[in-house]
Amino acid sequence: MKLETTIQGLCASLKSARAEQKIIGFVPTMGNLHQGHLNLVREARKKCDVVVVSIFVNPIQFGPNEDYDSYPRTLEQDSQLLETVGCDYIFAPSVEQMYGNKPRLTNISVSNITADLCGLQRPGHFDGVAVVVTKLFNIVRPDYAFFGEKDYQQLAVIRQFVRDLNMPIDVVGVPIARAEDGLALSSRNGYLSEENRQIAPMIYKTLKNAEQELLQAKPLDEVLESIKVALTGAGFIVDYVEARSLELQKVETFNQDVVLFVAAKIGATRLIDNLQVKYIS
Ligand code: PAJ
Repeated sequence: MKLETTIQGLCASLKSARAEQKIIGFVPTMGNLHQGHLNLVREARKKCDVVVVSIFVNPIQFGPNEDYDSYPRTLEQDSQLLETVGCDYIFAPSVEQMYGNKPRLTNISVSNITADLCGLQRPGHFDGVAVVVTKLFNIVRPDYAFFGEKDYQQLAVIRQFVRDLNMPIDVVGVPIARAEDGLALSSRNGYLSEENRQIAPMIYKTLKNAEQELLQAKPLDEVLESIKVALTGAGFIVDYVEARSLELQKVETFNQDVVLFVAAKIGATRLIDNLQVKYIS
């Protein structure tokens, strides 16, 4: 496994792989890796000859009051984990390497599907993601790129601009990795106090409970309301509880496969989760 910190260095390293027509797989991350990230790398390893993982805490996707400065940077530990799952190249550039020192005048903005859910509370967030992922795609030029369903809206945004802009990349979605108690793994779980870590799995519990209620034909709006009530009662500040089609369109009733979305704060930590519920007619 090789660590590259410059665009030039990575491109030089990948040159021979490309010349030999090797299949290149790419996993973009912000580091502080956990099993969720490692599952993406394992998927990449299965499908591809060469696996590149980027570690870059992208400043332009963080809002002014968000955790850019305090986001955990753990390159040493991440490298050790990546070694165990067969990563070939880590690409860990500096902010200057990625953004240079001249103003950026180009933006990539996906409309419609970014208007609500996390887009509402985090204005500009998905533009920041779209710009950095496009830059990384242009640097790595992968055949396959792997993203987690944990960030379902992000995955939809990436699929959308890849399709709209004819990027020759196959985007692969990977299921959510969870702790034993159901909490979706996230680098931000490390911010939770011991007490709040005990409460956090409530999100997944309420989602699973909601799934049961939907399958027992309880009306969708009541099911969403009961998630809100349960989470608020447990001490969360609920940001949103929503149901969407798999393509993120609004749904009024449970008459197709849906995704249930939750974003909620416990203490100062904002957690997101989602659950796909299959419609059985
Ligand atoms: P980050 O939060 O580090 O996540 C990197 C990738 O890991 C994303 O595709 C995310 O969906 C996936 N992931 C995180 N937790 C997961 C879990 N519990 N199960 C499955 N997959 C999980 O998402 C980003 O970084 C950034 O926005 C990025 C795409 C790198 C652009 O900066």
